[in-house]
Amino acid sequence: MSVRATVLCENSVYGNGGAVAAHGWSVWLETPAGTFVFDTGRGDTLLTNVAFFGIPLADARAILLSHHHNDHTGGLLDTVRAMLHGSSRECVPVYAHPDLFKDSFYDNKGKLGFSGLPHTRGALESSGADFQLSTEWREIATGLYMTGEVPRHTIYEIGDLNLKHYDKAGQIAVDPIRDDQTIVIDTVDGLFVVLGCSHAGLINILSYISEQTGKTRFHTIMGGTHLGPVGEEQVAQTIAALHELDIGRIGTSHCTGPKVAARMAHEFGDRFFFCSVGTIVES
Ligand SMILES: [Fe+2]
Ligand SMILES: [Fe+2]
Repeated sequence: MSVRATVLCENSVYGNGGAVAAHGWSVWLETPAGTFVFDTGRGDTLLTNVAFFGIPLADARAILLSHHHNDHTGGLLDTVRAMLHGSSRECVPVYAHPDLFKDSFYDNKGKLGFSGLPHTRGALESSGADFQLSTEWREIATGLYMTGEVPRHTIYEIGDLNLKHYDKAGQIAVDPIRDDQTIVIDTVDGLFVVLGCSHAGLINILSYISEQTGKTRFHTIMGGTHLGPVGEEQVAQTIAALHELDIGRIGTSHCTGPKVAARMAHEFGDRFFFCSVGTIVES
């Protein structure tokens, strides 16, 4: 199975004059099982870049969402509408976790900014979104999987303590972001992994993928690692654990941040790449 992934939304753009960058993440995935939109950026960049790169958005089989944060779901409503515009189909399948509709916040020194999905479920459904919600590992198309909830085993993958939600008691508390999930495509050369934000922890995610697939060869790993906003212990231990895995190449983006991305570029040398807007990765 061959894959071609084009970064549509990311925090940076290099070359590709006319394409735009904004804090967020979206990837156009072309696979033998069809084309898919993974995440939808922050809201104002996806359609601009779709037009710039000549992406046949309406051909996509479905939208896949990594988690509810608005830098991944902000463009959802526009994307659904664009996929239906001039199309004979009546709805667009949207694969996500049921926590897609939860409220959550970014805690900036005690000031809470809303970080959830910026559209209501009703507005999305009346515009044609057909939600396929699950917490479980599932095969979306032949050889293409979404992880569902990823078990948390590592001690050092503590995550971003500034991301908050309402706990069961209705109190503001650190959000475990249970909905964080990753795309896995099984290719003849190994697993092709497209991360959302890795809130579950990059090593937890890769371990779970190996557990589910029985495979340990990662042909490509690309996407957000969320190693930018976490502590040094997590960054150092994650990099050490990555060195123990069979990874063909690793490309970071978005919530990795430039400082950790530069460190990983140094660590992984020729096997490292940046995932700015317009980056194309093929298997
Ligand atoms: Fe996130
Ligand atoms: Fe993000």
